[in-house]
Amino acid sequence: MVTHKKPTWWKVGVIYQVYPRSFQDTNEDGVGDLSGIVSRLDYLEWLGIDAIWISPFYPSPMEDFGYDITDYTGLDPVFGELPDFDALVAEAHRRSIRVILDFVPNHTSHLHPWFVESRSARESEKRNWYIWQDPKPDGSPPNNWRGQADPDTEGSAWAFDEFTGQYYLANFSPSQPELNWRNTEVREAMMDAMRFWLDRDADGFRVDMVDFLGKDPDFRDESPLAEGKTPRDYLVEARYQLNRPETLDYIREMKRILDQYPDRVLIGEVIYFLPVERMAAYYGEGDLLDLPTNFRFTFLPPEAPVLRRFVDDYDAALREHGAWPNHCLGNHDSPRVSRHGEETSRLLAMMLLTLRGTPFVYYGDEIGMPNVKVLPDKRQDGWDYIGRDPARTPMQWDASPNAGFCHEHAEPWLPVSDEFEKDNVESQRSDSRSMLALYRRLLGLRRAEQALSLGDYEAMEDAPERCFAYRRQYEGRRLLVALNFSGEAIRLTLAGCTDAKILLSTYLNRDGETGAETLELRPFEGIVAEVPDMNPNETEV
Ligand code: NOJ
Ligand code: CA
Repeated sequence: MVTHKKPTWWKVGVIYQVYPRSFQDTNEDGVGDLSGIVSRLDYLEWLGIDAIWISPFYPSPMEDFGYDITDYTGLDPVFGELPDFDALVAEAHRRSIRVILDFVPNHTSHLHPWFVESRSARESEKRNWYIWQDPKPDGSPPNNWRGQADPDTEGSAWAFDEFTGQYYLANFSPSQPELNWRNTEVREAMMDAMRFWLDRDADGFRVDMVDFLGKDPDFRDESPLAEGKTPRDYLVEARYQLNRPETLDYIREMKRILDQYPDRVLIGEVIYFLPVERMAAYYGEGDLLDLPTNFRFTFLPPEAPVLRRFVDDYDAALREHGAWPNHCLGNHDSPRVSRHGEETSRLLAMMLLTLRGTPFVYYGDEIGMPNVKVLPDKRQDGWDYIGRDPARTPMQWDASPNAGFCHEHAEPWLPVSDEFEKDNVESQRSDSRSMLALYRRLLGLRRAEQALSLGDYEAMEDAPERCFAYRRQYEGRRLLVALNFSGEAIRLTLAGCTDAKILLSTYLNRDGETGAETLELRPFEGIVAEVPDMNPNETEV
């Protein structure tokens, strides 16, 4: 008897990112909490996702909303207590939803007791848990490493500590000192923290800023930004401040911990614009990251040739390494995809959920949540230069006050969109052509069709320029995805295909339509179709 190995859940599954402050508040303080997530699990099950990744919920002064931790094995009281976490995991697992935690090992909060101890004296026993260096003779920072809180400024990555007269490394903000991963005690503490959550049945981690973990032990200067180069180029080309070879050893160490538990996933955040070959290196030989994050669709223009070129390169580079792709349209650090308008957002949703690779769906995108204008007196995010608040506003559940996110007498921590009465989960659930309906159909289709989750990807060579079309194929089942990114109708000629059948259109009104030899796409329409006898690269326009 031939036994088929069950495909790995995080390859076939879809991961939904929950920003816990904004999902559901249950205790009237205007901030979402873990019990709130539990109360919305039925919705997530109905939607059809496979796992949630929860942005950090650990104790934190919230200067970077949880990406500044003061205790790796606790919960911030605003989110609940450990039993709430256990209940969340149990309830999610009962619905076959996995739970992935955000893990932030590159830096702590400046208020973490380790750092408080470290900065108390040069002789402190925790001094070497962080990265301390003397000033240059003129008092300036130890080297030219650039700060990342605002990569467009000339800011230094170093912060000066008056009390002990040295600089500490803090790439993102002085309130986020960098841990010294060269120190085995630090690594042990981090591995213990991971075990703590794995023992409580967490299904894996999304590791924050993983490519920043290693630092040059000699603190050599980076080459200064050459004429015409951008801060992005600096991040890609940096050799000492990040992108270090020893980082791979640290990741391997984490992976070994996860491998002691069945079926866990290790996701790592790597910088946004890393060339595909460099992304591929983070997979190692299956001994490093399962999914180094790919953020390209958060900033590429939604134009067929651009998207296609990236997907072709990425897919080919990863295939060569036997590595598994992943995609997202947005996250808590980037503007929401809805900025492209509804038609294009629908096309991008169809692309996200029909490409080869694990899709990440950012909470609220499934109802087309807007980038909410947040007035200065309501702003929360300290990263002024991006202003990440507009993409972090409360989930719009229904038309009741505060969109059902929190009690009507509570003040939500960020304003709810003015559009919530029209656009919310409840209203879209009863509209069979809503964005939510589209997401649910796409998720259902991806789950039903292994061609969409596991199949090969092959772009259609001769699709019209503004149409991104590709075939997905698995064990003889052939599907065609065609995305018309133009405002004009187009006709695709499907050479040799006598019985194409549309399974889904982004307009949600063409189910079951059949075609022979040709298929017409309306302006900004995307379709998924069965094309049993079509060879994509023998087609013509
Ligand atoms: C990456 C996180 O996604 C972002 O939100 C955070 O501000 C930085 N890491 C710094 O911790
Ligand atoms: Ca709350």
